[in-house]
Amino acid sequence: MSKESKKILLSGVKPTGRVHIGNYFGAMKQFVDLQDEYDCYVFIADYHAMTTVQDKEKLSKGIIDVALDYLAIGLDPKKITLFKQSDIPQVAELTWIFNCLTTVPYLARAHAFKDAVSRAQKKHTESILEDIGKVDGVEVHTDLYDAMVVSNVNVGLFDYPILMAADILIQDADVVPVGQDQKQHIEYARDVAQKFNNTYGETFKLPEPFIVSEVETIVGTDGRKMSKSYGNVIPLFATDEEIKKAVMSIPTDSKGVAEPKNPDESNLYAIHKLFLDEESRKNLREKYEKGGMGYKEAKELLIKDMSDFIRPLREKREMLAKDLDTVLDILKVGGARVNTRVEKKMADVRKKVGVGIY
Ligand code: TRP
Repeated sequence: MSKESKKILLSGVKPTGRVHIGNYFGAMKQFVDLQDEYDCYVFIADYHAMTTVQDKEKLSKGIIDVALDYLAIGLDPKKITLFKQSDIPQVAELTWIFNCLTTVPYLARAHAFKDAVSRAQKKHTESILEDIGKVDGVEVHTDLYDAMVVSNVNVGLFDYPILMAADILIQDADVVPVGQDQKQHIEYARDVAQKFNNTYGETFKLPEPFIVSEVETIVGTDGRKMSKSYGNVIPLFATDEEIKKAVMSIPTDSKGVAEPKNPDESNLYAIHKLFLDEESRKNLREKYEKGGMGYKEAKELLIKDMSDFIRPLREKREMLAKDLDTVLDILKVGGARVNTRVEKKMADVRKKVGVGIY
């Protein structure tokens, strides 16, 4: 299929630190799988990151880390366009235009903002209780507006959904793969597109969410969902030492070597199967079910398979990190390509709103 007839897939990734195998199997890998089927645009959402990261070194390093992570797992810059958001200043320009079509109460209904304010509200209530001295049975209600005033939510965080709408709409994206937590943001983008189209005439395509179905929840070393906040993650680019330590920390039951074991009740198997193809999964299941394999052996097998899987990714990442100029060039070229495309769109938008008079 030619590039022109393919649907446009767009996704933004916020630099959030070290990625783990839950991120990989839950989301990152899907971009690699989809890069032939779609005309893919993957960008590093550095301006979104600024809503929480106000540290120069940390932001710059975060941007480079995302680029390294995605190139190491096999995003191919010949097939996809990898770029960083801040290289497309038209996105910030479009955000302003959208801001002027967006009301404050509409943005105040966004989940992320509401969560931030309710955290601030809770703190505020606690501090009032502290000031007046806790009295049993007395409840203090703080008003939402008060909470907003005392909260440290910045305007950028408040406006987060509109910046994201601009990211998506400026590219005429057809599909936007996101996790369940980002679904509301896609609805915001659709609303904004409709508002603009109603006000100034048909201009923006309504994007479809493409909810990355977590076919299976990726479990962490303690059996709960793998998540940084639980401290149960295995880093995707882990060293052999880290892999060994993580696997050894996975709890098992007290079944003896000879006893048959149910793979579907084992954390060890739940993690191990991610690294195996159908055939090897079947073989491993049999080993569990037959008995004769103790947990020590099962862990050794997992360490080997996980290391074999991770090693080439880690080595590729290390190689790329030694050649940062090439990585930065990939971002620059990607940014320039997107720039040309969106500039056409923005010229039309400027005319339509009335500022483009030349
Ligand atoms: N908000 C997204 C996240 O936290 C990142 C993001 C920013 C994004 N702009 C986007 C995702 C545009 C898809 C499309 O994961």
